[in-house]
Amino acid sequence: MGPTSRTRVAVVGYGYWGSKHVRVLGSMPDVEVTVVDGDAGRLREAATTYPSVRTARSQDEVLDEVDAVVVATPPGNHARIALDALRAGRHVLVEKPLATTVEDAQALVRTAAASGTQLMVGHTFEYNAAVWKLKELIDSGELGRILYIDAARLSLGRYQRDCNVIWDLAPHDISIVSFLLDETPRSTSVWAQRHVGHLHADVAYLRLDFERSDTHAFVHVSWLDPCKVRRVTVVGERKMAVYNDMSDNERIRVYDIGVDPNEVDDPTDAHAMPVSYRTGDIVSPFVQFTEPLLVQDSHFIDCVRTGRTPDTPGERGLDVVRVLTATDAARLSGRPELVAGYAEANERAALLHEAAS
Ligand SMILES: NC(=O)c1ccc[n+]([C@@H]2O[C@H](COP(=O)([O-])OP(=O)(O)OC[C@H]3O[C@@H](n4cnc5c(N)ncnc54)[C@H](O)[C@@H]3O)[C@@H](O)[C@H]2O)c1
Repeated sequence: MGPTSRTRVAVVGYGYWGSKHVRVLGSMPDVEVTVVDGDAGRLREAATTYPSVRTARSQDEVLDEVDAVVVATPPGNHARIALDALRAGRHVLVEKPLATTVEDAQALVRTAAASGTQLMVGHTFEYNAAVWKLKELIDSGELGRILYIDAARLSLGRYQRDCNVIWDLAPHDISIVSFLLDETPRSTSVWAQRHVGHLHADVAYLRLDFERSDTHAFVHVSWLDPCKVRRVTVVGERKMAVYNDMSDNERIRVYDIGVDPNEVDDPTDAHAMPVSYRTGDIVSPFVQFTEPLLVQDSHFIDCVRTGRTPDTPGERGLDVVRVLTATDAARLSGRPELVAGYAEANERAALLHEAAS
């Protein structure tokens, strides 16, 4: 395919998120979209909203006529649909999580390599300008040594049938903190609970332990919370930064505040504070906002056209699936569990980091 020819993309799954892919891909020049969904009602809705798009009931019907596939079905279907597309030589973008087992995620990475096709995972927040700004603040040293990161993704959420709240929501936070720290966590601990229905945990707390950065991330995900919260807080020794995705115009705030330990040398002085506080300005840097899904899908189309390796290749999706798999083990054992392959993932991250700097 020449760099100027039209790129034909099938979006498989026209649900809540797939419909957004169709909207952004349909807005791009020289991209032709086909909507695939097994549900006739969903296809009728797609045809009404986008009269010019072609529709089909299954991927098999259209695979010969497209260059690339976006997989936006529920997670349990990702691997089978993506494998069929990769084996047919199509480039594939798979929504998060890449797959529901490490074996499936590995098979996807292997198949893409063997067929010389692009495999990308939809870690949308790695295409978000506010997350890039947070990373810039960390990498520049402005925040000082990172003491910990806290992430909260809460709301009265969309209960999923085929996965728990961790596999549904935490891929975002795992991808964000791994991106911020250039590191895959070494181990994880989990507290998770089901409160409604009889299927999956709907509230969970994770701790992710990062070896090289010598820090932790605490992740709270919930489908059962009255408040919609999308927040990442980076607590540094010098300053603290908050990314609030619910804010229209102050997505990032940098707090010039901190706490320092005090030497309390008089044990009889009951009023001596064990710490002292520093307070200063709160600054909200300007973040030029472009819809992250548009940035992500434009990047995918660019990779399809040019053969460039995606910024979130299949291997990054595999890393997150490995962390999610460790959360399953930690939930059952009640203990911290190692993330398989974390050392290999971090060697790869270090090489990429070196190449980029
Ligand atoms: N990146 C993000 O911010 C983000 C946000 C929401 C959802 N997602 C991801 O997007 C994916 C879809 O989630 P959703 O909330 O849109 O789900 P959904 O249930 O709303 O939609 C899924 C659609 O896929 C269709 N489908 C299922 N199996 C199919 C098959 N074999 N062939 C064709 N169509 C099939 C269903 O009919 C349905 O219309 C999930 O992987 C989810 O994790 C990502």
